[in-house]
Amino acid sequence: MPTITSTIGDELFTIRDFIRWGASEFTAAKLYFGHGTDNAWDEAEQLVLHAIHLTPPLAAEWLSARLTRIERDAVINHFQRRIEERVPAAYITGQAWFAGLPFIVDERVLVPRSPIGELIQQQFKPWINNEPAQILDLCTGSGCIGIACAYAFPDAEVQLSDISFDALAVAEENIQQHNLEDRVFAMQSDLFANLAGQKFDLIVSNPPYVDADDLATMPPEYHAEPEIGLGSGDDGLDFTRRLLQDASDYLTDDGVLIVEVGNSWVALEEAYPNVPFTWIEFERGGHGVFVLKKSDLKNI
Ligand SMILES: C[S@@+](CC[C@H](N)C(=O)[O-])C[C@H]1O[C@@H](n2cnc3c(N)ncnc32)[C@H](O)[C@@H]1O
Repeated sequence: MPTITSTIGDELFTIRDFIRWGASEFTAAKLYFGHGTDNAWDEAEQLVLHAIHLTPPLAAEWLSARLTRIERDAVINHFQRRIEERVPAAYITGQAWFAGLPFIVDERVLVPRSPIGELIQQQFKPWINNEPAQILDLCTGSGCIGIACAYAFPDAEVQLSDISFDALAVAEENIQQHNLEDRVFAMQSDLFANLAGQKFDLIVSNPPYVDADDLATMPPEYHAEPEIGLGSGDDGLDFTRRLLQDASDYLTDDGVLIVEVGNSWVALEEAYPNVPFTWIEFERGGHGVFVLKKSDLKNI
């Protein structure tokens, strides 16, 4: 592991210097990038800008601006944590961006990164044509999916739910940060257990779906996230099986179910040969997200 000391602050001066140096240190330390950025430069930029209280994107002419001694120490501190603790950068900055919106995050929730963000920004077209009045974000974590849906559908009411009280505390902070208390609500529930009697036009979920093999070989950055948000049995489908069994009871007649299962999509296809899963293609990357109508669920 490289030793980062504040003496480096006597050799580097500009924002560009620190981003370049961070990118080199991150590469040397073989960090994993998959929680909001996908390369060492962007990761270093995110941490430098946060340490000096600036918001990306940074205009090119600012790259040559010099840092104060206090700012240099703050940047070095962020880099040191990223390398030594191997935590995602979002846990250091306390913030992640999803569907173009900022969210408060910490170790109680997964770092938002679902490709469902792209669908939300397109108002789920062509999978949904009428604005949904009632939306459920099942397994909400930070609340990112449901809150982004509330922006996409300004007249909708959105129910967020999660089994984890810790995650819901973060979701509540995000509801308040976005001033959505009048139509976004958070509820603790193991799957649908506390949602009896409610019907939704859209149920959207990014549940735990990592299979046991993948979970065992994930880079350390993932082990900083709550395990309850990742693993779901040997084939990654323990949660999704229960969801498919019960979802129909919570959808309106024209209701739509959209669920991410990532790499477990192969096992899901094999387990349910009679269910007509439609797999969505993404422009910005990602895979393993299916769409089903209520009527498709009758074969479960
Ligand atoms: C993959 S994370 C997704 C978080 C968020 N939706 C996102 O996209 O960033 C899955 C979430 O499911 C929650 N969860 C796990 N088992 C659950 C269950 N049985 N019922 C409800 N939520 C559950 C976890 O607490 C975690 O917050």
